[in-house]
Amino acid sequence: MKIAVIVGTTREGRVTPKLAKWVETRLKAKHDDIEVLDLIDYDMPLLPEAPWTPERELTDGAKAWLDGLERADAYMFVTAEYNHGIPAVLKNAIDYTNGQLKRKPVGIVSHGVVSGARANEQLRQVLGAKVGSAVLPDTVTFFGKVDGGIHDDGTLTPETEQNNANLDRHIDDLLWYGNALAAAR
Ligand SMILES: Cc1cc2nc3c(=O)[nH]c(=O)nc-3n(C[C@H](O)[C@H](O)[C@H](O)COP(=O)(O)O)c2cc1C
Repeated sequence: MKIAVIVGTTREGRVTPKLAKWVETRLKAKHDDIEVLDLIDYDMPLLPEAPWTPERELTDGAKAWLDGLERADAYMFVTAEYNHGIPAVLKNAIDYTNGQLKRKPVGIVSHGVVSGARANEQLRQVLGAKVGSAVLPDTVTFFGKVDGGIHDDGTLTPETEQNNANLDRHIDDLLWYGNALAAAR
């Protein structure tokens, strides 16, 4: 079972990759098949055609993004909060999908001034509706500062280490649903 960690922001100087590194590090302690899909690596314009357009033309970046999603059986979306919602670049990337995320479990890890709680809930709504993902019942809203609260190796500082237990529970759920739904598919 492959698990993809999605890095949901792309701006210059972003800190979300630090949060994703923490998620990847904790995942690796429990599972070995993990791939990081960082939106910065996929050159995708604003959605040019509906995803159900027959033989739609995709940039190489969009193809690689969709192939990366297709390869995975479960996902951890790592997102910041922009204007009380998810980053537009993440929504655009999701709008490209055409079944790749369907019937697969999704965990969500967010950060922001109020731990990204509003973006977290919005992402649950987006992925749990037409996209058809099985969004995990629980979630992770990171308490404390990502910048300064996470070491480069993905471990937490004493100020933020209380988040580890929440993430580990979320990972356990993702593995459980991932195995169950992979068998069902
Ligand atoms: C355009 C923009 C809007 C933001 N709006 C919010 C917000 O509504 N709520 C919040 O908690 N943080 C907000 N922030 C702060 C971000 O959550 C914080 O800067 C975080 O580090 C962004 O992730 P990034 O560094 O990966 O871009 C905003 C940041 C940006 C750039």
